[in-house]
Amino acid sequence: MLVSGGGTNLQALLDALHDSPIARVARVISNRSDAGALDRARKANVPTTVLKNPADSNELLAALRDAQLVVLAGYLKLVPRAVVERFPGRMINIHPALLPDFGGPGMYGHHVHEAVLASGAKESGVTVHLVDEAFDRGEIIAQERVPILDGDTPERLAARVLEAEHRLLPRVVLELARKM
Ligand code: GRF
Repeated sequence: MLVSGGGTNLQALLDALHDSPIARVARVISNRSDAGALDRARKANVPTTVLKNPADSNELLAALRDAQLVVLAGYLKLVPRAVVERFPGRMINIHPALLPDFGGPGMYGHHVHEAVLASGAKESGVTVHLVDEAFDRGEIIAQERVPILDGDTPERLAARVLEAEHRLLPRVVLELARKM
């Protein structure tokens, strides 16, 4: 898994895969040494790597080794093309909105939920998509819709979307892993 932040999606996956015969989190890789996700990995005895330079494809490929599936969850760096090409159809990202809307450069964290509310949309959601060399543009493989409620703030919407993320990501990972 590639992470930059607190790692609640990592935690959801660790919990869902606990003792699973189908898949396990083999390594957690971050561009930030202070990412909370790294603490969660260490507590679960999952090996970690902190990247010196996330744009260095050789460094990232060495960390990924023979991974079967690469999961980006809150990873804020662009994955170099050489790395994307090494994992065709086997690298996924979770995004806290219904792509293709509200994605792309700068659309992360609270920016996403602010933009969704400002648009007047009636619903938001979660998207899991394949990673390519642009932000949030690869083929969509699963979505879950999340309602927008009267009086929603970016924080409230973010919390509701995050709950959906924690359901959708383990489901998709298990579905993909079963086919591998
Ligand atoms: C999630 O909303 C994810 O969709 C986004 O960044 C957030 C990461 O949360 N790309 P966490 O680090 O998994 O808690």
